[in-house]
Amino acid sequence: MRIVDLIEKKRDGLELTKDEIDFIIKGYTEGSIPDYQISALTMAIFFKGMTEDERANLTMAMVDSGDKIDLSQIEGIKVDKHSTGGVGDTTTLVLGPLVAAVGVPVAKMSGRGLGHTGGTIDKLESIKGFHVEIKNEEFIELVNKNKIAVIGQSGNLTPADKKLYALRDVTATVDSIPLIASSIMSKKIAAGADAIVLDVKTGAGAFMKTLDDSRDLAQAMVQIGHNVGRKTMAVISDMSQPLGFAVGNALEVKEAINTLKGEGPKDLTELCLTLGSHMVFLAQKADSLAEARKMLEKAIQDGSALEKFKDFLSSQGGDSSIVDDPAKLPQAAYQIELESKEDGYVSEIVADEVGTAAMLLGAGRATKESNIDLAVGLVLRKKIGDQVAKGESLVTIYSNFEDVNEVKEKLYSNIKITSTAVKAPILIYEEIMK
Ligand code: URA
Ligand code: CA
Repeated sequence: MRIVDLIEKKRDGLELTKDEIDFIIKGYTEGSIPDYQISALTMAIFFKGMTEDERANLTMAMVDSGDKIDLSQIEGIKVDKHSTGGVGDTTTLVLGPLVAAVGVPVAKMSGRGLGHTGGTIDKLESIKGFHVEIKNEEFIELVNKNKIAVIGQSGNLTPADKKLYALRDVTATVDSIPLIASSIMSKKIAAGADAIVLDVKTGAGAFMKTLDDSRDLAQAMVQIGHNVGRKTMAVISDMSQPLGFAVGNALEVKEAINTLKGEGPKDLTELCLTLGSHMVFLAQKADSLAEARKMLEKAIQDGSALEKFKDFLSSQGGDSSIVDDPAKLPQAAYQIELESKEDGYVSEIVADEVGTAAMLLGAGRATKESNIDLAVGLVLRKKIGDQVAKGESLVTIYSNFEDVNEVKEKLYSNIKITSTAVKAPILIYEEIMK
């Protein structure tokens, strides 16, 4: 086989076979096929697309390029959730203990990464003593005992995807649905998921800005899942404004605690119940989505979800007393209100720009080397559709420096107020099962 012939084949819009895709991914991972040939190939894929079989084969070739996590010692069906990323997305912190409380095993591998706020691990590390440096055996024991544990990303998972993603990033080939879908799915499958619930975000703060693109991506991933034998479904949810109120690490932990108590923001609560119901259903812990939802609502009402969160924290060295006393979380030195300059209705809260404002405070990493300030961030006091009076607070800024003018300017220019009433955006657009 010669790579140049395969580039030509794809350039002409023909279908690559499984053997050909395996050859490409193996050669690229090992270094026998150079970047410039894979650049040409990904550009051909960008224009010609990939068939259903090609997408499934590419996904599994990337899974097979590195280590695979073996979760077979964990009892039950391991359902993983993946979000395509947004601003102030606290769902993982809520969903883990929530579905674990009704018996769904949550074996979460998580990373740090770049972004407006830290990743799930950073957020959890705002709890004193909590750590994810545990051995594989301990991880598995903890999931069997508590139904939930989180471990730091380790090993050599999907090296082909790492290399390919970095190359796509500098060759204008990130925005290809088959390449995005196989990239995301390969990581979930290598991490050991039996079933996958996808939260595909749509809107200004999302990777996919339009509903059509979000739907295409969701369908592509669900289809890959089915073709490689993993039950997969996707929810398309709004990211035109940040989810919930809090954007920041310790602030989101507090928001997650409130939500597990049944006192969380309406949108965050609803999205968690929707995603959670699908997780419980795919894990075969309920016979219908309605039954699954009832189980989750009960776990919030009777306190078992909150208890589960405490057990989870203390099992991994964390101070679980923060759950009853969130004042023990890292606190920012200054709380500054962003006052509305006019009367009216909030019509727009540009999610990614609000995320950038949180990053200016130090809540996220710009580069891998940046330090994160776990205490700082933003808490929205108003969401789209809310009425606001002049002088009333739109956002509370939690900062460790006093001069927050740059942050204020960013927020003022990205929170729009109009004089006429505005409807709140739809939270969940579609649920795609197949
Ligand atoms: N996220 C991923 O993991 N892969 C992509 O290709 C795009 C977004
Ligand atoms: Ca939030």
